[in-house]
Amino acid sequence: MEENWEELEKSIKGCKKCKLCLQRTNIVFGCGNKNADIMLIGEGPGADEDREAVPFVGKAGQLMNKAFEGLGIDREKVYIANIVKCRPPQNRVPEADEAEACLNYLRNQVILVKPKIIVLLGSTALKNILGKEYGITSSRGKWIEQKGILYLPTWHPAALLRDENKKIEFWKDLKSVITKYKELNANKN
Ligand code: URA
Ligand code: SF4
Repeated sequence: MEENWEELEKSIKGCKKCKLCLQRTNIVFGCGNKNADIMLIGEGPGADEDREAVPFVGKAGQLMNKAFEGLGIDREKVYIANIVKCRPPQNRVPEADEAEACLNYLRNQVILVKPKIIVLLGSTALKNILGKEYGITSSRGKWIEQKGILYLPTWHPAALLRDENKKIEFWKDLKSVITKYKELNANKN
């Protein structure tokens, strides 16, 4: 466990803890507000992310940004990271050993950000964070509280590119995040 961002970022430099190091161009660490109340977790970098070293900048990310804009969410105000920090070849799902090797970085990010809400984008994020027993189809849109953090599983933005209904549900889930966030902040006063 690293106590601060500087140490954590230093610790991941040149990481070779799993085989995904072999084909990556860049490690995609994460981006956004390091003190955010809301954190979003995806699966792993795609080709665009691998090139630019920033999460969710490709097609799926642009669609997610559009939803953010439509709902008045400022992308800079949330924190965004992935289960694995290096691109899986052909964008395949990260294998168990790869996720296992990389998850400590993400756990450390969560400890440093201290989010109140974590949005799990798709099955890979859901299963690696909350457990294999969870399925995205039955869990999406349902809040799950664990150790003081509120989790909301929803569709991965790439799934929206293929299915209009999922777009509507994704939008609904983001709205539910905004409502929850407002509730939490109202209770504070
Ligand atoms: N898909 C993901 O899961 N993460 C990214 O950063 C980009 C696409
Ligand atoms: Fe290291 Fe994670 Fe990249 Fe694997 S995916 S090499 S564990 S940073």
